[in-house]
Amino acid sequence: MQANFTRFCKLDEVPPGGKKALKINETWVLVCNVKSNVTDRLFAVSGICSHQFKPLFNGRVRNCRITCPVHGARFDLETGAALDLPATKPIAVYEVRVVDDWIEVKI
Ligand code: FES
Repeated sequence: MQANFTRFCKLDEVPPGGKKALKINETWVLVCNVKSNVTDRLFAVSGICSHQFKPLFNGRVRNCRITCPVHGARFDLETGAALDLPATKPIAVYEVRVVDDWIEVKI
């Protein structure tokens, strides 16, 4: 099945430094608005950790990485790569864009 962009939420619901998780078609998606000294940037990744499939929603985001609040594995928000044990598998990453003040995710 071909992925399509789906409306996620209004852009102002995920301000710089913020994040929000929603279920799209039975898949938990986590959108993070990462602040850097260059620009703010949106990332969309799985809302579920690849380790024991626990929610990543409350993980801390720093330097374009999110830390699972359960066992502390970090994931690269750009590639989804698992950077620490106990996670060994990546999390899904999704294309994200803004159209008319709406965040849209390709899923
Ligand atoms: S559930 Fe995320 S690191 Fe274990």
